[in-house]
Amino acid sequence: MTKAPAIYVARPEAVRIDGLVERLRQQYTGDLAAIRIAKVPLRISPLGAHIDHQLGNVTGMAVDRAILLAFAPTDDGTVHVESRDFAHSTTFQLNAVPPYRKGEWGNYLRGAVLALQHSYALPQGLIGVMDSDMPIGGLSSSAAVTIAYLLALESVNDLTIPPEENITLVTRTEHDYIGLNNGILDQTSILFSERNYLTLIDCETIQIEKAPIHPETHDFAILAVYSGVTQALVGTGYNNRVAECQEAARQLLQQSGQPDQANPRLRKVSPELFAEQGHQLPALLQRRARHFFGEMARVAQGVAAWRAGDIARFGELMTESGASSIDNYECGSPQLITLYQILRETPGVYGTRFSGAGFRGSCLALIDPAASEQIAEAIHRHYPQTHPAEADHYSLHLCQPASKASLLDWRT
Ligand code: GLA
Repeated sequence: MTKAPAIYVARPEAVRIDGLVERLRQQYTGDLAAIRIAKVPLRISPLGAHIDHQLGNVTGMAVDRAILLAFAPTDDGTVHVESRDFAHSTTFQLNAVPPYRKGEWGNYLRGAVLALQHSYALPQGLIGVMDSDMPIGGLSSSAAVTIAYLLALESVNDLTIPPEENITLVTRTEHDYIGLNNGILDQTSILFSERNYLTLIDCETIQIEKAPIHPETHDFAILAVYSGVTQALVGTGYNNRVAECQEAARQLLQQSGQPDQANPRLRKVSPELFAEQGHQLPALLQRRARHFFGEMARVAQGVAAWRAGDIARFGELMTESGASSIDNYECGSPQLITLYQILRETPGVYGTRFSGAGFRGSCLALIDPAASEQIAEAIHRHYPQTHPAEADHYSLHLCQPASKASLLDWRT
């Protein structure tokens, strides 16, 4: 009989913070009262995959896995951050931010500085030490680190910036510096989630609603299965898919005699227009548009099921969303597709889909917590066999809903 792999739960926050501050104090000799902590949760998106960039409706939820950044101001314009997850630190001067360098985690820090400097003067730099509670990639760690840097830079510079504006600053970092044409799902979920609520985001109007967990909802937990594959989204098919969706929107709007739009998005196309004219699109663009309209409908049905406490129906819709990501959006990596297939077939799983864009990172499941051991066993039995290269790298993480990003004081 095989032994199921460990299922990780959140590490105690106080222990992590002590470790980060101890390391920071080895390098920072200023006022200890100035040390603060940015606590930024990772997020899941149970429904509403790949439609944020087309201004669709999406759902998000922060989980109890967070990036922690202990930081303090520097007054000579130096920015210096080290991560306990990576060997190298990042150092530069505020008045000479280096350009993007492929594959470096410091890109998000440099991009966040530039995004803020676009609108604000930043006299104070910062020194910081950070760590994460999950393997990198797949639960939106890039948005989480970017938010950690923004909150820290804003704090040391006494800037009070509303979360709505931080949504835009993350977008500016991703689009202008990193080169990823993504939507607002990640940062909005991280900046607005409340524990035990599902966050509903209309990416066209940027209206945010919170739907509480119904008191009669059957117990559930969130299982994130990290595939063992980490890769930045730039360089995957992410931007191509965005462009394909926009091309589908452009053709549909043109067919219906609507004037050319500079930035066509599928949200501007009515479902009726797609139903009537969609067959005229080339097959690939039809699939992308079918994913968009299908996902919009699943989000609406899923939110109704969530509000009614019907976690089984909500889960079914998640699994359908996963299938559409594979068949219509064609974005799964082989590892994530295998995880999705295993989870879909395993009793105790209400629903499963890719956690993020599906090119790498984690597969997500809503599960009955009582079945967690059997689910782990099923993954252990099948996944390493199919993907032996990942056998030593994949991991299972049992998560709970959590609240949005915040700044914590550190007291000596
Ligand atoms: C990534 C992007 C998001 C969103 C998801 C897929 O996480 O950063 O904007 O498109 O993929 O839903």
